[in-house]
Amino acid sequence: MKKLFAGNWKMYKIYSEAVEAVKKLMSLTSPLPKDREVLILPPYPYLKSISDLISKKDGYFLGAQNFYPEEEGAYTGEVSPKMLLDVGCSYSIVGHSERRKYFNESDEFINKKVKFGLQKGLKIILCIGEDLTERKKGEVFKVLERQISKGLNEVKDSKIEEKLCIAYEPVWAIGTGEVATPIQIEEAHKIIRELLSDLFGEKGTKIRILYGGSVNPENIKDILPVPNVNGVLVGGASLKPENFSKIILS
Ligand code: PGA
Repeated sequence: MKKLFAGNWKMYKIYSEAVEAVKKLMSLTSPLPKDREVLILPPYPYLKSISDLISKKDGYFLGAQNFYPEEEGAYTGEVSPKMLLDVGCSYSIVGHSERRKYFNESDEFINKKVKFGLQKGLKIILCIGEDLTERKKGEVFKVLERQISKGLNEVKDSKIEEKLCIAYEPVWAIGTGEVATPIQIEEAHKIIRELLSDLFGEKGTKIRILYGGSVNPENIKDILPVPNVNGVLVGGASLKPENFSKIILS
């Protein structure tokens, strides 16, 4: 199983900065170690240009941060999986905590996106994770169980182990500089692995589980060796190629 290093740029960078950052990242990291893949998740307007700069066969993939689960139609402001695939995307994030919070995305709507995206040929990174109140109340298992069972309700795919990734991102660790401890990460990833095995059997043991939340060039060495950590989803530290490259090559 190759480790996936995904850089979620959120709503940062203008066009020239985005292109420069990708060129720099490539020069710092290629050729990639054989056991690693890189995924760049820029804002929509830069997808096509970045797609032209990178190559899947070298281990660099392109993805979107979101999409709308319809083929096409009168949905002003939205972008479909067909459009993303057409400009070279292989992946999309679904259910990021910022979308759950600021755009009121429910587990049901997230489930619709997971099913629709997979059906259309996108690989999906489903983001889950508890907030601080839920952790303090001892509800980590309950939250992860709910987000997985609802988010993956009726999800079927003969190649699910290749097409689905889960990103465990405790909300309290996102953009805060407060990273989960290796023990907290190990516990959560173990729960997620068991839930995936219950749902998908043997294939569930091969689905990549990423950790996300304040990953940086210093803490990556403690995170990557944790059992069931099959990659990382990096926000802030992916914006600077110097930092992201250190994480990728750690
Ligand atoms: P962060 O963001 O690395 O800046 O905490 C992670 C994410 O939101 O995916």
